[in-house]
Amino acid sequence: MTLTLSVVGCGYLGATHAACMSSLGFTVVGVDTDPEKVALLQSGKLPFYEPGLDTLLAQEMKTGRLSFTTDFSAVKNADVHFVCVGTPQSKDGLAADLTYVKSAVATIAPHLKDGALVVGKSTVPVGTAQALRAELAKSAPQADLAWNPEFLREGFAVEDTLTPNRLVVGVANDRAEEILKEVYEPVIAFGTPWIRADLPTSELVKVAANSFLATKISFINAMAEVCEAAGGDVTVLAKAIGYDPRIGNRFLQAGIGFGGGCLPKDIRAFMARAEELGAKQALEFLREIDAINLRARQRVIDVVRGELSQDLTQYKIAVLGATFKPDSDDVRDSPALDIAAQLQAAGATVVVHDPQGIEPARKRFPNLQYQEVVTDALKDADLILHLTEWKEYRQIDPAAISSLVKSKIIIDGRNMLDRTLWRKAGWKFHALGRTD
Ligand code: UGA
Repeated sequence: MTLTLSVVGCGYLGATHAACMSSLGFTVVGVDTDPEKVALLQSGKLPFYEPGLDTLLAQEMKTGRLSFTTDFSAVKNADVHFVCVGTPQSKDGLAADLTYVKSAVATIAPHLKDGALVVGKSTVPVGTAQALRAELAKSAPQADLAWNPEFLREGFAVEDTLTPNRLVVGVANDRAEEILKEVYEPVIAFGTPWIRADLPTSELVKVAANSFLATKISFINAMAEVCEAAGGDVTVLAKAIGYDPRIGNRFLQAGIGFGGGCLPKDIRAFMARAEELGAKQALEFLREIDAINLRARQRVIDVVRGELSQDLTQYKIAVLGATFKPDSDDVRDSPALDIAAQLQAAGATVVVHDPQGIEPARKRFPNLQYQEVVTDALKDADLILHLTEWKEYRQIDPAAISSLVKSKIIIDGRNMLDRTLWRKAGWKFHALGRTD
């Protein structure tokens, strides 16, 4: 008999997981406390932007296998329950806030049937799964708990869920592994590596992976700083070191650094947890990774001041990009938006454009100016900042927009624009980590 699944928490991760599991043929119920989100999903619409997921969701809703509700008792028929709620940074420190994870497990506990398996997918501090499993042993001894970290990237959510580069399961016994193998059977079938781990290791795999990615980005941004000081070019350096397969060429794109709902808060929560465990020193380097990352934002602001003036009050700056990366409408800890807000706080008039992120950005920073059309944002600008590498920005013809702006100065915060093209059209072109 095919397993029935529940997905608890229908945000980015949960909505993706629910739709993808339904597409594998499972009956899936998604539960969430937010009635607006649930209503949208139930009508086949996504509450956020993610390429390909809108179509998949609409298609799966039509099959009748997938449903969404705010009624948590709806999980009672499910054999496997995926916990996909958020673990944001706490308001008063670096640690992760586990309120939602704890409450999700506690809320479903009374509804769990005999033999049910609760599977955490949220990113949590090591030790959380074991503690939750012990809790569950008291409140719902008929059920078990496993951990199955998620590695999906925004912008590639469907692809990363259905064709991941590995599946990691943290389990306390063979039965939990067997159930998870049954769930992922179609994914395993095309050769996805399967890694069985104990509970703490599975939690650590996730934060270790994100820490490594953050380290790669900050490493290349540190090299960018040195290139600027020494007269080098970080893009050439990255290309050259990237040919060494031990280093690899991915995640070496120098620029304004990493943001989003994962990398920044995960490295901070990891440091906080290591300190609790008495292993603070082991992760001290992550503090530097964080500092390099935040410095990249400041360096852009320094270049702006160098180009315009220390006093920015008379200047209009056009910002291209608000989201933390392209193909997403996520503005959580977005370096682009942070830079825009800092420039505005320094007195500049800042006009922001983004293909998908204007509404979420406006919610966070209502005082910034926003324009839906790129050319409107560029009008009379004293300087353009390219801060999120949406494809459409690479298609801008610098000659065609020359007459719109007040002065032809652009700073490429992502090292993605064709500087020869811009310079040919008479623009002063700066890029982070490139001195010529
Ligand atoms: C990240 C991880 O890549 C996923 O594997 C993980 O599942 C996810 O976090 C999570 O924990 O849920 P995501 O937040 O979607 O995924 O974003 P990334 O693609 O990792 O990019 C993060 C940031 O790094 C972006 O702001 C991006 O612009 C920046 N970045 C990335 C660079 O500045 N340079 C690079 O070379 C690559």
